[in-house]
Amino acid sequence: MIEDLLRRYGGPVPRYTSYPTAPHFSSEVGPDQFSHWIEAIPANSSISLYMHVPFCRTLCWFCACRTQGTQSDDPVRAYAEVLLAELGMLKKKLAPGVKLSRLHWGGGTPTLMPADMIRRVAGAVFDAVPIGEGAEFSVEIDPNEIDDARMDALAESGLNRASIGVQDFDPEIQKVIGREQSYEVTAGAAAMIRSRGVTSLNADILYGLPFQTDARITESVNKLLSLAPDRVALYGYAHVPWMARRQVMIPSENLPTPQERLRLYETARQLFLAAGYVEIGIDHFALPTDGLARAQKAGQLRRNFQGYTDDQAPVLVGMGASSISRFPQGFAQNAAATSAHARAIRSGQFSTARGHVFTDEDRLRARLIEALMCDFRIDAAEILRSFEVTPKRLADMFAVAQAKFGDMVEVSAAGLFIPEHARPLTRMIARSFDAYDLSKAGHSSAI
Ligand SMILES: C[S@@+](CC[C@H](N)C(=O)[O-])C[C@H]1O[C@@H](n2cnc3c(N)ncnc32)[C@H](O)[C@@H]1O
Ligand code: SF4
Repeated sequence: MIEDLLRRYGGPVPRYTSYPTAPHFSSEVGPDQFSHWIEAIPANSSISLYMHVPFCRTLCWFCACRTQGTQSDDPVRAYAEVLLAELGMLKKKLAPGVKLSRLHWGGGTPTLMPADMIRRVAGAVFDAVPIGEGAEFSVEIDPNEIDDARMDALAESGLNRASIGVQDFDPEIQKVIGREQSYEVTAGAAAMIRSRGVTSLNADILYGLPFQTDARITESVNKLLSLAPDRVALYGYAHVPWMARRQVMIPSENLPTPQERLRLYETARQLFLAAGYVEIGIDHFALPTDGLARAQKAGQLRRNFQGYTDDQAPVLVGMGASSISRFPQGFAQNAAATSAHARAIRSGQFSTARGHVFTDEDRLRARLIEALMCDFRIDAAEILRSFEVTPKRLADMFAVAQAKFGDMVEVSAAGLFIPEHARPLTRMIARSFDAYDLSKAGHSSAI
């Protein structure tokens, strides 16, 4: 049955880290709108900040992230100077008393910044937005690109959550995906992180890679478990060579079929569950003590551009090229090219190039989709309480999903529920609540 539905509705489906998704942003949002939204953040409220560093030492073939390779530190230093200026501009616009809830550095490889730059940029962030109580500072760390000096700089700047890219431990698969990283290197990075008192460790691994088998993913997951991560992101490999040109290096004829991908996910899932991890949404696992597991239990799990989060701040400000900000009023995305971003900031303007102003309809559909992605259920009472929608209209929306997915969704007076056996279809079911034209490119495969 799942296989039938996959054949019928499979195809590319968004990961719904936002609604509407980024391909639907337009030029309706520019630097002036972004500035107004920043100025409208209430005094003494909490915001979160995402900082993008789109550089890597070498480019892994499998990677779909927008990033550029550089052997020299010069472009990274120049980029960090631009970030310092951008943070200074942000500081000037913010109302007094605004505090930081979450700070995340992603990329690319933020640890490509030399140690002195890490210190200066972190200092500038905390100068622009002082750290709030219980705040978290997390950074994506490539185990191939970290050393004691940079780790010390991060730890002394207050890092308390680290994320390492693993992908797969199998040497043959690593070769084929252009990402070679021995177990020792990964374990060394984990030890380096823990020895600095950074208590929370996240690791990214992938299923759906070429030549991956049940036996191989089992071995990979067991190796990962030996490092005892607090959280794991188990992403489905997205093969999108029309967007990420370097993926033409990946032998597409050796990629697993959708059915095989389902099995690989299930094999890994069972291993995490047996090891005591809690399944979070469609692709995360966390120890019961971890913030994500606690948020899920409390019904406070959220979805944002970094995936799942327990952050409750109403505003996420994106700094750096291509970063996306989320405000209660809409989305704003910075210029994607580092050159265009730098030009704008050097001329004293934010680089906002695209975005989207929410309609009431967007807000309703965004919540329906987020609820499915986080909790696999839409609570009808919560929706009727929070949005101007009639019970009849909500029931009609549920009926559309049920007509397509039959007993893969359970509809009742309480709302709509995706039972456990149908969860691999979650993104496809969420798509039936998406009102935008889905033919736009940029989405990953359904499973
Ligand atoms: C910015 S990268 C990680 C940070 C760091 N540069 C590293 O490589 O360790 C974020 C994550 O995105 C995931 N990712 C990248 N390309 C992907 C793809 N094509 N499909 C699925 N996940 C992908 C990988 O798991 C990767 O660890
Ligand atoms: S996986 Fe990480 S290191 Fe590799 S290209 Fe992507 S962002 Fe860069």
